[in-house]
Amino acid sequence: MSADDQQRAGDRPILAVEDLAVHYGAGRRRQSVLDGVSLSVARGETVGIIGETGSGKSTFARTVLGLVRAGRGRILIDGEDVARHKPRQWQALRRRGVVQYVFQDPLRSLDPDLTIEDSLVEPLLVRGMRRPEAVERARAYLGRVRLDEDLLPRLPGELSGGQRQRVAVARALVAEPGLIILDEPVSALDSANRVGVLEILKGLRDSGVALLFISHDLGSVAGIADRIAVLYQGRFVEVGAARDVVNTPRHPYTRLLVGSAPTLRSAAAARARREELRALLRT
Ligand SMILES: Nc1ncnc2c1ncn2[C@@H]1O[C@H](COP(=O)(O)OP(=O)(O)OP(=O)(O)O)[C@@H](O)[C@H]1O
Ligand SMILES: [Mg+2]
Repeated sequence: MSADDQQRAGDRPILAVEDLAVHYGAGRRRQSVLDGVSLSVARGETVGIIGETGSGKSTFARTVLGLVRAGRGRILIDGEDVARHKPRQWQALRRRGVVQYVFQDPLRSLDPDLTIEDSLVEPLLVRGMRRPEAVERARAYLGRVRLDEDLLPRLPGELSGGQRQRVAVARALVAEPGLIILDEPVSALDSANRVGVLEILKGLRDSGVALLFISHDLGSVAGIADRIAVLYQGRFVEVGAARDVVNTPRHPYTRLLVGSAPTLRSAAAARARREELRALLRT
């Protein structure tokens, strides 16, 4: 690769979705869910998608992952347009491990019949890594999600919900992907585990992996995302820096979301008061 090519690959977003439309069903049962949505995620960036239930967040995630067919538009994963990919091409892409995922229910991201160790090493063995090396890497990633090695021989069913979701995050990380799509990763967890998993996700910033973090809860997303995209009635009605979306929401629907997140509202109010005070002190 020439220096120029390398530069171009470095600038290229890890995900670029352009004018995507998705519908379910046909004829009279046809339901349009996404209608001309565009969003890009830069390398290493954390982008949050928020929106009310049924707004199409999971549909967006599942379409990017090749689980739902795109009706129109382009989905560029590391520059490769996957929107019309055939199952064989998806298989090849998955094997390369560029995009990983974590779902709300960890039992859907983990094979219930595989031990934690097998779940973690599988993506590495598929890519030709030898078992001892793969197990070593699996242990390291288990440490990164703050879990003990004692869990390696266990089955997912023998773990708590919080432990399982940490394993799902470790499994997504172990292949060292460019992008991880997380669909409501903390919604099923109790508050202590929610905070724990959010802290782990925040800690991934320096590792260079990009995160697409989907949630109906603005509060969970606001503390971790660089940018936030607001999905409403099949379109992104607002996309901006997390701080701007929270502090100065432009779209009425975003204002409603910010208004109904009490902790955010009080944090924004406290910040405004501090800034007022600072301005007073300067004069
Ligand atoms: N497999 C499917 N077949 C038909 N319709 C579907 C299917 N999956 C989702 N839908 C419909 O598409 C719309 C968007 O659903 P989606 O699951 O993407 O929403 P969501 O934003 O993820 O909601 P939630 O916050 O509840 O997870 C809903 O009206 C839903 O009923
Ligand atoms: Mg959903």
